[in-house]
Amino acid sequence: MCYAIPGKVVKLEGFAATIEYFDETKKAHTGLASVAVGDYVYAQGGFVIQTVPEDEAMEIMAEWRRLFFRLRDTDRKLAAAPRTLYERANAVRQKKLGNSCCVHGILEFSSHCAANCLYCGLRRDNAAVSRYRMTEGEILDAAEYAVKELGFKALVLQSGEDPWYDEAKLARIVSGILKRCPVLLIVSIGARPLSTYAALYKAGARGVLMRFETSDPALYGRMKPGSSLEARLELIRGVRELGYMVITGFLAGLPGGSNRGTFRNIRLTAELGAEMFSFGPFIPHPQTPLAAEKLPPLGSMLDTIARTRLMNPEANILVTTALETLDKENGAREGLMAGANSLMINVTPVKYRRQYEIYPGRAGVEDDVPSRIQAVVKLLNSLGRAPTDIGL
Ligand code: 5AD
Ligand code: SF4
Repeated sequence: MCYAIPGKVVKLEGFAATIEYFDETKKAHTGLASVAVGDYVYAQGGFVIQTVPEDEAMEIMAEWRRLFFRLRDTDRKLAAAPRTLYERANAVRQKKLGNSCCVHGILEFSSHCAANCLYCGLRRDNAAVSRYRMTEGEILDAAEYAVKELGFKALVLQSGEDPWYDEAKLARIVSGILKRCPVLLIVSIGARPLSTYAALYKAGARGVLMRFETSDPALYGRMKPGSSLEARLELIRGVRELGYMVITGFLAGLPGGSNRGTFRNIRLTAELGAEMFSFGPFIPHPQTPLAAEKLPPLGSMLDTIARTRLMNPEANILVTTALETLDKENGAREGLMAGANSLMINVTPVKYRRQYEIYPGRAGVEDDVPSRIQAVVKLLNSLGRAPTDIGL
């Protein structure tokens, strides 16, 4: 299964390519691959990542075309005659973005963290969690497997704030992966100097996943001792200026948060120019100072997804693993039916995945990746969604 469909380059202006897909066109940046008008390409998150031979492209497109129209009918039927808040949000999603559902892979390569966020099981002061670091070779192998064997076109490389992977190591990892396989690499490595992000951009990374966690400066200061919201926002804006596509958002239901706070969080995510909104429920971890706090109900998370969609009709909104964890049976389906349109699949080797314990009971921790992909594709198909970033 493939998570992007090829399109044809019909125009080039500097680095801006206009790409034709079935009956619509999209723009993408060509910095990562050399392309000419008439070439078939894969693009992800606004970047061309690879050219595709014409015959291969035609074959894949013919296959997709059949599937697409069938899926589109299902999606349209499910989004018809909206009444409730969730149905209205879903109808807006359908109208503005069609049935596309970005499915990105996420590889958690280190669970060591120098930060001490009150809510997180990986916080520095949690001595009870067992930690791991993947070697450079393991990371390259896991990324290559995810791209070449599993078909991912976009991959998030995530870790705690772990200075053991210094700038040179990270840059080697990024360029090493890109040497082995074309993919949109999104780094999620927390507070680092902007110059490190610049070096990683030079090495070929094109996305940054970094939440601001809360738009309330006082709450931020309490939750992330020793750091400030202002510095976080400056960093997020800085990486965007470097040319990165930015995925950002917040932690919903933090103790001390409020409905007004949620509204501000949604607005700030949009103001930061998020290419994708990522917000999930706070899930208390037993070995943190917030162990005794309450879990937000699934309904409040679905409300947040729906309101985000109504406030930002064209946003990409992620169904996060934390949302799936709130309701392992139905969380993903309900999120997708309340306005969300993206998913991530954990491709971390199972032996490490269990140790990446930001919160307990994470959904999908035991699943092998091919069966997880199958389950996701089955879910998407049942909802009339296509696992690509091109919607119809
Ligand atoms: N519950 C839910 N999400 C959490 N994160 C950290 N701790 C928790 C928790 N207890 C999220 C933060 C961080 C991301 C990597 O994980 O929002 O940005
Ligand atoms: Fe570290 Fe991220 Fe957890 Fe904070 S949320 S303790 S930065 S892993």
